[in-house]
Amino acid sequence: MKTLLFGANGQVGTELQRLWQGGELVSVPRSQCDLWDPEALRRTIRQCAPAVILNAAAYTAVDRAETETEACFASNAIAPGVMAEEAEKLGALLVHYSTDYVFDGEKNAPYTEADAVNPQNQYGRSKVAGEQAIQATGTRYLIFRTSWVFSPSGTNFVKTMLRLAGERDRLRVVSDQVGAPTSAAAIARATARVCRKDEIATGLYHMTAEGSVAWSGLAEEIFRQAKFERAPVVEPIGTAEYPTPAKRPKNSRLSNDKFATTFGFRLPEWREELAETLATLLPAPATKSAK
Ligand SMILES: NC(=O)c1ccc[n+]([C@@H]2O[C@H](COP(=O)([O-])OP(=O)(O)OC[C@H]3O[C@@H](n4cnc5c(N)ncnc54)[C@H](OP(=O)(O)O)[C@@H]3O)[C@@H](O)[C@H]2O)c1
Repeated sequence: MKTLLFGANGQVGTELQRLWQGGELVSVPRSQCDLWDPEALRRTIRQCAPAVILNAAAYTAVDRAETETEACFASNAIAPGVMAEEAEKLGALLVHYSTDYVFDGEKNAPYTEADAVNPQNQYGRSKVAGEQAIQATGTRYLIFRTSWVFSPSGTNFVKTMLRLAGERDRLRVVSDQVGAPTSAAAIARATARVCRKDEIATGLYHMTAEGSVAWSGLAEEIFRQAKFERAPVVEPIGTAEYPTPAKRPKNSRLSNDKFATTFGFRLPEWREELAETLATLLPAPATKSAK
């Protein structure tokens, strides 16, 4: 089965390359095919003629998207629609990733796929538009909404905390935004597992790690697992004390029940995946040499 991967150098794309087990995987870097160029996208997909398209490419700079709105929508809204049109012509399956930021975060329970979207920032709006552009075609699709992605590669909260641990004694971290930190490896493993099924129940699914935590709790758990001799003290603060250009939802928790019922498994709990990522990022503890 031939599979075409966009966004191969991103967090999820890197792990898809590492963990994919579904036959031939063709990766297209941005230098060969830019999401902003619909004709290049169409040409690339037609020439490859894949059975599956994995779209791990996206404009993910949430704060910059408030001003670079056109670029954000070109990548996150228009490009997925073009991929879906081409997938439909080929009879291919399109696998696409979306986000917890499609919701406003005001619900007091995990969001389900049936909940109405109400994005609060341009990135979230562009991801909703991308979902809708895919759904407007008749193509077979899997849209996986995930959250708070981390991995050994790229830029993410886990790596930022490790860097700051070496620079600061105290860290002020937001404690009133709650979500499920989800490793790119877990996303890639789950995607590969679903795509290996003979009969795939296509549609929109929430797919995050099990459990949830606030950003401040995640920071504390990173330092606990990292076993630093002198970890910074985490000072919990409210969102209002850490203003950002893009507004973020307070409740980012997504219910994975539809995914679990349909595919018969859940992603691991976030602490487990954090441990795996930290094992890659941190030097191995010194072992006594055998005499
Ligand atoms: N990161 C999160 O916390 C998070 C949370 C929820 C959902 N998601 C979704 O999960 C998916 C994967 O996210 P991620 O964290 O893996 O993203 P990422 O690390 O930022 O990687 C994005 C990838 O897209 C590529 N890309 C960006 N603009 C492009 C363009 N104009 N043309 C071609 N390629 C372009 C990048 O290429 P370069 O390597 O060349 O820059 C990179 O390979 C995305 O759909 C994202 O919206 C992410």
